[in-house]
Amino acid sequence: MTDGDGRSAWDSIGEPLAFPRSGLTVKNRIFRSSISGSFDSYDGTGGYARINWEEKFARGGVGAIISSFVPVARRGRILPSYAMIHDDSTIPFWGAVADRVHAHGCKFIIQLSHSGRQQDVPGVENRYRVALSSTSDMDTFHGLLCRSMTKGEIDEVVEQFGLAARRAQRAGLDGVETHSSHGYLINQFLSSGINDRTDEYGGPLENRARLLREIVRSIRAHTDGHFHLQCKISAVDYNNAIYPWEKKGNVLEDSVRVCQWLEEDGVDALHVSTGSIFPHPRSPAGDFPIDVASEVYGRMLYSGVRGGFNQRVFSARLGIAPRLFRWWWRRRRGPIIEGINAAHCAEIKAHVSIPVLLNGGIQRASLAARVIREGIADGVTIARPLIANNDLPKHWEAGLDQPPRPCTFCNKCLLNALANPLGCYELSRYAHDYDAMMDEVMSVFHPSPHEAANL
Ligand SMILES: Cc1cc2nc3c(=O)[nH]c(=O)nc-3n(C[C@H](O)[C@H](O)[C@H](O)COP(=O)(O)O)c2cc1C
Ligand code: SF4
Repeated sequence: MTDGDGRSAWDSIGEPLAFPRSGLTVKNRIFRSSISGSFDSYDGTGGYARINWEEKFARGGVGAIISSFVPVARRGRILPSYAMIHDDSTIPFWGAVADRVHAHGCKFIIQLSHSGRQQDVPGVENRYRVALSSTSDMDTFHGLLCRSMTKGEIDEVVEQFGLAARRAQRAGLDGVETHSSHGYLINQFLSSGINDRTDEYGGPLENRARLLREIVRSIRAHTDGHFHLQCKISAVDYNNAIYPWEKKGNVLEDSVRVCQWLEEDGVDALHVSTGSIFPHPRSPAGDFPIDVASEVYGRMLYSGVRGGFNQRVFSARLGIAPRLFRWWWRRRRGPIIEGINAAHCAEIKAHVSIPVLLNGGIQRASLAARVIREGIADGVTIARPLIANNDLPKHWEAGLDQPPRPCTFCNKCLLNALANPLGCYELSRYAHDYDAMMDEVMSVFHPSPHEAANL
């Protein structure tokens, strides 16, 4: 595949990307975007399956992996069985992840995260604690209850991010990303649709951005030299996507300003996504597979006061209600899936000088190359197309625009992740052979440590 100048798409995509401030260089322009899955022990101790999982992408040719949502504190978990980085005992595990990924020439950036009120399944450790947020209003989709944080609790979270970054550096990771998007704690502060505080952390944008900026400073204070630090941002909140009577939240202009402040604060790169809840009709942009939702949503029955209501809506037996919901979901997404955030990303890139990464529906080499050549972004980050084809970069390098069995953006991986191992659950991609699909999904559990010892 070549463009008018005779350059192939891979000429642009395969070019190394250097981050001038941190000195980090990634061998190509492809970043695996964060993908969370229950691979670890219930208490958040990292497991061998996660290491196998991350190695799949490194072997498949991505330049860097951005980890799953990694909580900086027990109270910031979204589901049990996700590895954490909340204390020093986690350092050897993350070191082992880095070693395995580095063996393939791939970098590893950990996504430092705090759920705030958006906890899918808080787990027994959090059962009797009300979640923390920038508001005492519950989230509107699931009805997850919360209370507005005290100044002391804010200070504690700021410190937790800094300490987690220090652990990441000690583990030999290549950088950190703040999860400041998708409706998690930092986004709950940033968003004018969610944050209703009246102190120095609420009200005008400067105040709503204070938590993120304090976290950035804390990460810098707890790490040496120029440890790579990037921030994932929702360019537009679309906070009223599901319930139109909600407040709209932040618009692009707000996010451009926040990104400029982050550049002033010494952040190395920006990662552009969308939406102030997760999932959101525009993130991951695609379908809402009602049949899967009705099967797995039961796991969230007790997570919020709307769990039971949603479970009834998604129950396929009710017929019209789930179909209506799916129709609404698609309508609120709009017609574009591939490159859905490109225009917003271009606007942010035009207002900063640090590298910018574009997320959302990138599966075609031609699109990725265009994004880079036209200066929409410096690199692309990919989640679902890489779940479907862990070796997507190799297909692109071989000259294909997309792999022979592409991701359909059905979002079955996303909803299955609530209750089942993470992987591609689109049966049509496996010629409707259920066993073949299960073999692929379960492949992450091999080799087990016992098998590896006997290899
Ligand atoms: C199963 C699954 C888990 C995800 N987990 C995370 C996460 O932990 N942190 C995050 O920032 N985004 C997460 N995402 C969102 C992706 O990183 C990405 O923003 C979104 O899927 C759009 O990119 P895509 O079109 O390449 O899939 C997840 C997406 C999926 C499908
Ligand atoms: S289940 Fe498979 S095809 Fe569907 S969105 Fe996920 S990775 Fe893509």
